[in-house]
Amino acid sequence: MMKETADFIFRGINSPVEQAEYTWQSPSNIALVKYWGKKGDQLPANASLSFTLSQCVTTTTVIFGKRGSDRQNLQLFLDGEEQKAFGQKAFSFLDKIRGFQPFLQDYHIQIHTKNSFPHSSGIASSASGMSALALCCMSLEKELNGNVDSDFFYEKASFLARIGSGSASRSVYSKFAMWGQHHEYANGSDLYAIQVPEKEVHKDFHTFRDTILLIDQGKKSVSSTVGHSLLDKHPFRDERYQTANNNITELKHILEKGDIEAFGNLVEQEALMLHALMMSGPESFILMKPNTLAVIEKVRNWRTETGTQLFFTLDAGANVHLLYPESAEPIVLEFIQNELIVYCEDKNYICDNVGEGPQQLMP
Ligand code: DP6
Repeated sequence: MMKETADFIFRGINSPVEQAEYTWQSPSNIALVKYWGKKGDQLPANASLSFTLSQCVTTTTVIFGKRGSDRQNLQLFLDGEEQKAFGQKAFSFLDKIRGFQPFLQDYHIQIHTKNSFPHSSGIASSASGMSALALCCMSLEKELNGNVDSDFFYEKASFLARIGSGSASRSVYSKFAMWGQHHEYANGSDLYAIQVPEKEVHKDFHTFRDTILLIDQGKKSVSSTVGHSLLDKHPFRDERYQTANNNITELKHILEKGDIEAFGNLVEQEALMLHALMMSGPESFILMKPNTLAVIEKVRNWRTETGTQLFFTLDAGANVHLLYPESAEPIVLEFIQNELIVYCEDKNYICDNVGEGPQQLMP
């Protein structure tokens, strides 16, 4: 059943917990229909649909220690080193979710986190990072109040993660997830993401590949906050939201049917539309680099020449995500080695695929 905001307010403690420690590993995800534009309080302007990755993950341990009347202390360590700026971000996240988990105020909180991908890779860590943190908070909630079943656990983890970063809401599920109200998904909600039922996804998509070519490992030149706000005054805004929602309808049927050609066509359009919007807005950003375009051209030509089902998508950055079925893997990897690796910074790329979702590593 669809939930309202009030359903996520914590309902009291059954058993007190003095000290607790949880470790979650949570993946990043790649959007096929993009979330770009917000409304209200961290709600999406249109529905989005993604698949969860398997190799690009954040592993987070949170140590909760009961505090007395002393001031709450929050520390965040990234790769073993204390990071005050990230600590501040985590603090403001915990502050925002306090209304839904008031017990957090009763604890000193120490966060130890690490990413499987380099911080400078241009891969956003917000989806994996925020979902991992939200899952640790949910583990504490479950221990404090045993009446948390598995569905609620992940829905609320998604709800909390969304408050930290919209795309993070989609990272708490295995395989395909969608976020946002949409007439094709009766359970779809702006408040949290849902899993696209596995039986609604053709088997060829369950093992889909995403090889991420690291074109530019520098810092992103537009923050997601600024990026989303660009849509507010964009002349094509309403058209974009309508197109994105239509693309969700189309993608739902494509996933069911297993139509890989139509899938590729749709995801490439989505990626280029995202970048076209950024280029053509009142404040303009060009996030593609010359090598991004060079790769796109090579991919399209090679696809025409060989008939291989190789497609691309982009995030709000220069890196290229190459999407293809498992059966094409040997030939695509050879193509990357022979023809595309020259466009990658330091020849770096990451081989990833549709993943199984987050995993609790401890306890
Ligand atoms: C282009 O989730 O990073 O990756 O909610 O402000 O944290 P915030 O934005 P964020 O935006 C992701 C944008 C995107 C598309 C997508 O993942 O759907």
